[in-house]
Amino acid sequence: MGSKDSAFDEFIRLCRSWSEQMAALKEEALRIDYMRGQLPELLLNRPVVGAILNHIAKGDPVLNMGRCGIFENEILIYLDPQRLFSVRVYFHLPGEFTPIHDHSAWGFNGTPQGALDIVRYRREDDGADPRRASLKKTEQVVLTPGEVGIVHRLDAGIHRTGNTTDRINAMISVYGSPIRRLYIRTFDPGSGRIEKRFPPKIQKRQLAKIAMRQYNEKI
Ligand SMILES: [Fe+2]
Repeated sequence: MGSKDSAFDEFIRLCRSWSEQMAALKEEALRIDYMRGQLPELLLNRPVVGAILNHIAKGDPVLNMGRCGIFENEILIYLDPQRLFSVRVYFHLPGEFTPIHDHSAWGFNGTPQGALDIVRYRREDDGADPRRASLKKTEQVVLTPGEVGIVHRLDAGIHRTGNTTDRINAMISVYGSPIRRLYIRTFDPGSGRIEKRFPPKIQKRQLAKIAMRQYNEKI
């Protein structure tokens, strides 16, 4: 117990050190390069990864797990006080893939164990229609433990992540500062439909606003 706690403290110390280094780097390209080098170190640190999983498993309040991300399988495990970066864990069940989506920030994905699939797409349309896109699959990579894959912001980084193994995988991701946007977009490759996906708390408020408007119209 004690050793797991100290390993979790080590994770927090690591994040604080990333924070200092990131703050000292003024150009985004340098911050991206820095994080490309740092995430593998975290992924391959068995005591720290074990402590992170243990804290999630016991629902430790320090992780603020009630603060929902946009994805159902997402857990925010560290949010830099200056919002320079966040660290998130995602679980993919055997055979499971996320919907195709974009992000509001650059980031890196990797796994501490097993294999992580990343499928990347390119937009073939001109982006003029906010509700429709034509996507072409450009590559599918399988990352082994400690390898990381970059996620670019918005249209440049459309992808899905997943798991083709028969065991649950944990993806650990670091994202930089997001642009001001409360949602991500999901893409249906068959119909070309683009949908906005908001964090559950915001989505419920929006649904309530619509329901309230409709309710008042009926009077
Ligand atoms: Fe993603």
